[in-house]
Amino acid sequence: MTDRILVTRRVFPEVTERLRRHFEVEDNPHDRILDADTLAARIADKDGLFSMATDRIDAALVAAAPKLRAVANCAVGYNNIDVAACSARGILVTNTPGVLDDTTADQGFALMLAAARRVAESDRWVREGRWPVAASISWLGTDVHGAALGILGMGRIGQAVARRAAGFSMRVSYHNRNRLPASIEDACRASLVDMDTLLRESDFVMLTLPYTPNTHHLIGAAQLARMKPGAILINIARGGVVDDCALIDALRSGTIAAAGLDVFEHEPALDARFLELPNAVLTPHTGSATRATRMKMAMLAADNLIAALSGATPPSLVNPDVPKAR
Ligand code: GLV
Repeated sequence: MTDRILVTRRVFPEVTERLRRHFEVEDNPHDRILDADTLAARIADKDGLFSMATDRIDAALVAAAPKLRAVANCAVGYNNIDVAACSARGILVTNTPGVLDDTTADQGFALMLAAARRVAESDRWVREGRWPVAASISWLGTDVHGAALGILGMGRIGQAVARRAAGFSMRVSYHNRNRLPASIEDACRASLVDMDTLLRESDFVMLTLPYTPNTHHLIGAAQLARMKPGAILINIARGGVVDDCALIDALRSGTIAAAGLDVFEHEPALDARFLELPNAVLTPHTGSATRATRMKMAMLAADNLIAALSGATPPSLVNPDVPKAR
C-alpha cells in the first residue's frame, strides 16, 4: 500500500509533484501554520511527515500518530522536534544541513550591514519625506570593515560568515564547543577565544549556534552587559538563544548599540516592544529564504522522506541509532 504523508506548509509545486510520485500526499494549500490539534488530527493516519521549523513535533503529537515512521524537517535546525520521543517509537528524524549555509551567512551579513549603517531606520525616514533636513553629521553609523567580529558557534554557517568577513578586513574570533582544525581556522582567518573575551572585545557578535537546553538564554542581561556599548548583536540562529526581554532592555538603555534579528524567542509571535526600537533591524526568520536554497532544502527533505519510508538510510539522519533499534 502507498504510504501516506502530510506536508505541513506550502512547498514548491516541483517538490509536491516529486512527493506524489512516491506517496499519497496531503498538503496545506492555505499555507497557515497548523495548530497542535489540527496537526494531531491530520497526522493520525500518516506514515510520514514533511515538517517545517514552525511545526511543534512533541511527545503528544508523536503519540497521536501511531503509524508515523519518519519526520523530514525542512530546516537544518530541529529544536522543534522531540527527537527522543521519535527515537523511542522508532521514528526516523531528518534535517537539511549543508544546502543553506551560504544563504544564511548572506543574511547574517545583510543584518550586520543594515544594523551598522542604519539602513532600515533611514529608509523609513526617507519614505516619510524628511530627507531635506539631513545634516552632514546625522545618520552616523558604525564601520563594518576593519571591525572585530565574534562568532558564537562555528559550524558550517559560522564558517561561511567568517569567510565573508575576510572580504571586509574584519578581525574574526570565535567561540565553539570544540576547537576547529587548524586548516579551517586558517581558511576562516579566525581564532578561538573564551566567551567572555569574545563578548568584551567584539564590535559585532554574530550568533550561529543551535538551540538546545544548553544554549537557552546563552545571551542574557549579564552577557549583554559585558559587550561594548557600541557593539551590535546579530542573531541568525534561533530565538531562545537570546533572552528577548534582556535584549530589549539593553537596546533601550544603550547597553549595546543595535541588533539585527532574524529569529525571536516566541516566534511567530513577536514582543511588540521590538517594534518601537529604531536600533533593531527585524526580519521574519528568512535566513535561508532564497528560491534556490529553499528549493534545495525542500528537495533534500523529500529525498530524506523517500529514503526513510522505503527502508533506506536517509542522507541526513538526525537519530542514526534508530534504524538499529527497528
Ligand atoms: C532555519 O532556521 C533552519 O533551521 O533551516
